Amino acid sequence: MAEMQTATTIAQLRMLVSCAKKAGSKIGFVPTMGALHEGHMSLAHEARKHCDFVVVSIFVNPMQFGPDEDFHRYPRPLLDDLKLCTDAGVNLVFNPSVEEMFPADFTTVVEVNGLTNNLCGKSRPGHFKGVTTVVMKLFGQVQPDAAYLGQKDAQQALVIKRMARDLDLPVDIVICPTLREADGLAMSSRNRYLSSEQRSVAPLIFKSLCLLKEEMGLGKHKLISQYREDLLKRLEAIPKALIDYIEIVDADSLEVLQTMSGALLVAVAIRLGNTRLIDNIIINTSA
Ligand code: PAF
Repeated sequence: MAEMQTATTIAQLRMLVSCAKKAGSKIGFVPTMGALHEGHMSLAHEARKHCDFVVVSIFVNPMQFGPDEDFHRYPRPLLDDLKLCTDAGVNLVFNPSVEEMFPADFTTVVEVNGLTNNLCGKSRPGHFKGVTTVVMKLFGQVQPDAAYLGQKDAQQALVIKRMARDLDLPVDIVICPTLREADGLAMSSRNRYLSSEQRSVAPLIFKSLCLLKEEMGLGKHKLISQYREDLLKRLEAIPKALIDYIEIVDADSLEVLQTMSGALLVAVAIRLGNTRLIDNIIINTSA
């Protein structure tokens, strides 16, 4: 297999992708902020299975972080990331600078309304505007046939899917399952911030979601608000956890539900110290 290539400018990226396209390759794209883990690599593997040329972007996007968030301390282990990409058979890593992506006179934003009103959109104002703007730019630069996103960021995946549909972008958005550690904790670049004490209680987040799913499956006919209350109690019992949000919403529209019908997305964001973790589970009530 040919050696993995890297590009730091848009011009280099375009040149390398256009060579691949001229050779008839289907382009698969995995947008990331680096600090790669097995979850990201599962997206690259999926892209590898269905595409001939796989591009991974590594760019910590300042536009999607709030002023008090972790932009500056976000991990940037570039050499480790490149090694993982090489091992996964990635063809090209695009790792631009902030100046390359957002020159000083950059003024355009891309915003998806509605879907961004609740969950992370509510607790991180401006976050999704930053995500959709950078992803739109990346799609314009890479011009992929398919882009691979993780279900862990369920709202992000739906928002990007809607953006692609609304703006008629010729890219398939493929949403892949969340990868978990052996104890159930959803893989995340931010897990590396956790102290050993925080790490030991973090799996209780997924455990609580699974218990909720089990309870709903028992068909006890509780109100959604009661299930939410039960989940809140469980999550509040996690030592030193602060609840950012707990929502039970329609899995497609993300609208808050009053009655149990169709596929529900149960999504939570929990703070353990300075680290904000998100996770979710889909529950099909008609199954
Ligand atoms: O999920 C992420 O890592 C980021 O939000 C993304 C999609 C790469 C945009 O910066």
